[in-house]
Amino acid sequence: MDETPWWRDAVVYEIYVRSFADASGDGTGDLAGIRGRLPYLADLGVDAIWLTPFYPSPMADGGYDVADYRDVDPVFGSLADFDDLVTDAHAHGLRLMVDIVPNHSSSAHPWFQKALAAPRGSQERDRYMFRDGRAPLGPGEAEGEPNNWLSTFGGPAWTRVPDGQWYLHLFAPEQPDFNWRNPEVREEFLDILRFWLDRGVDGFRIDVAMGLIKAEGLPDTGPGFRSASPMWSRPEVHDIYREWRRVLDSYPGTRVAIGEVWTDSAEDLARYVRPDELHQSFNFAWLEAPWSATAFRKVIDDTLRAVAAPTWVLSNHDVVRHRTRYGEGSLDPSAGLARARAALLGMLALPGSAYLYQGEELGLPEVTDLPPQARQDPVFKRSNGELPGRDGCRVPLPWSGTAPPYGFGDGGSWLPQPDDWAELTVERQAADTSSTLSFYRRALALRRDLRGTLPDAIEWVPAPGDALFFRRGRLTCAINCGEGPVRLPPHERVLLSSGPLDGVDLPADTAVWLTDR
Ligand code: GLC
Repeated sequence: MDETPWWRDAVVYEIYVRSFADASGDGTGDLAGIRGRLPYLADLGVDAIWLTPFYPSPMADGGYDVADYRDVDPVFGSLADFDDLVTDAHAHGLRLMVDIVPNHSSSAHPWFQKALAAPRGSQERDRYMFRDGRAPLGPGEAEGEPNNWLSTFGGPAWTRVPDGQWYLHLFAPEQPDFNWRNPEVREEFLDILRFWLDRGVDGFRIDVAMGLIKAEGLPDTGPGFRSASPMWSRPEVHDIYREWRRVLDSYPGTRVAIGEVWTDSAEDLARYVRPDELHQSFNFAWLEAPWSATAFRKVIDDTLRAVAAPTWVLSNHDVVRHRTRYGEGSLDPSAGLARARAALLGMLALPGSAYLYQGEELGLPEVTDLPPQARQDPVFKRSNGELPGRDGCRVPLPWSGTAPPYGFGDGGSWLPQPDDWAELTVERQAADTSSTLSFYRRALALRRDLRGTLPDAIEWVPAPGDALFFRRGRLTCAINCGEGPVRLPPHERVLLSSGPLDGVDLPADTAVWLTDR
């Protein structure tokens, strides 16, 4: 019997709930919409789904501003819908993970509202990061922010309240940071974890997992980012996840936690992934790498050397879709999609688990021409439109038909869908064996067949030009990031290729799985 725990080599599909499927017809995706599409996900061949936040929220950051951690926002459904979704997902053989947002709440959260109403120095304020401002630097100067920290979304990380104190928000002002040195906050989140575990969830994706603890005294930041910063990856954050792990391990079955951890190095990332801590953390290194065999090879080597339970991811709801990223700088308009398909074979051939983002199986591009009035991301709003923000990868999925909303729901879609997505719908692609959807289905089915039969280690095979070849037991994966064709490595049989092969040659922007038996 295969003793590998399910999460170690799982393929997890990220559902951006607002944009997946809308059953209620109000233009926003919902839990009932997901439930209706579980057969699609089971056929696709993924092992688990991760739902982005569906909790009551004013939606200042698409739900990553949570006002109540133990309920469902009416726009997404009810707790009863959630329970039905868990039951049905399990019946379809799919595990279900939810997003937990512990770094900050919404400013509409009752705790923050109480903190605003309470005086400085009160217990209510101590649940968040309230501080006095810096004394004026000179006569006539205003009191300054408590330190020089900047919000990830632009502008200062501090907002002043009427009595003159300031509160910290590493993201939008509507997302005040919790004080994780306060035991009440820690207890509250252990209870929230239990609330969802009791409802049958298989795990959590932890939002901004490296941010919870800030350096004592909140010193100014220097030029360093991520690992060198007083805001991120402080050593004490690991104690929190040790506590969380004890809760997860106290439940039947295998319940898991994956951290959203942005770091500078695989070593730093590895510190989160320990037997008594998180099961996994996202490894964003590949997603940050350009289309280059040298870059991919370094990412793979660094990851496999440092991280015990590796993960791979090419796209998510925060970054430009990889089809579009890989196409940038190429004169060939088909390069982006060809490369995106090739990268999938690389990712799925590696040991560890893979995270897919909804719509990549359809080869969706980033939508770059959303009208400004449609955009909702705080990144766009806070930069006064200078930065496009992340709405372009969040456009609702095209399911069927020839015109918007392409079967997403009966009531339009909260972000407009392009007029030329008819050929990208699930309906159209399911009927076409050469489509990206059919390719994803084949790749995921093959990966499932190979599961448990391949070693955890890979071996590099010498490759010409800007190509990369690696072997994992009887599977060889070859990716050609160069401009011209390269000769395929030795093999018996081609299992799958991301695009047409040219006899014994692997064309540019193409990957292949080969076997010698
Ligand atoms: C994470 C989420 C992102 C959100 C941010 C603040 O990075 O993935 O969407 O805006 O945290 O919660």
